[in-house]
Amino acid sequence: MIRIYEMNKYLKENLIENRYNHTVGVVNTAIELAEIHGENKFKAEIAALSHDIAKNMKVTDLKKLIDEEGISLTIDEEKNMELWHAIVAPILGKKVFKIEDDEILSAMRWHTTGKENMSRLDKIIYLADLIEPSRKFNGIDELRKVAKEDLDLAMVKALTHTIKYLLDRNLAIDGNTFKARNYLLYNNVKL
Ligand SMILES: [Fe+2]
Ligand SMILES: [Fe+2]
Repeated sequence: MIRIYEMNKYLKENLIENRYNHTVGVVNTAIELAEIHGENKFKAEIAALSHDIAKNMKVTDLKKLIDEEGISLTIDEEKNMELWHAIVAPILGKKVFKIEDDEILSAMRWHTTGKENMSRLDKIIYLADLIEPSRKFNGIDELRKVAKEDLDLAMVKALTHTIKYLLDRNLAIDGNTFKARNYLLYNNVKL
């Protein structure tokens, strides 16, 4: 893996200012959640720092990388270009940042949609992305509080928020987002 200051240098050069500032917020939030929930803080830091590595790339470049890797997209992924930066994130994580840790690469990959049976690190990065200090939406303060107390409950609330947000805007919803939420409900999350 390359050094953190080299990652920061790459991100400053390849992300617009707002996105870089968002990334710093995700790093701080992810480290805090990792500390509280007994996750590896270094892994949380690297996954958070890297999660939006591909966010400001052109869609044509994103698609080219996806095709080069031979990744087959689901219909939801194919139709929703907003998801492509997350699909490309682990590819660039490996190529540019030389990250080899599968848990970190998984958290980068699933930070936008979630998925069935997420790891603790997956959940921390998903939540940190949504609740970092610059984010604003109704109910965010409650979600910030729950994220510190119960990761699974916070995930159900976060996924519900995301699904409602997309429904209200008549946008499609990735099947993995439903699977992520259903899995938590089927596995005794305490509501
Ligand atoms: Fe993202
Ligand atoms: Fe993000």
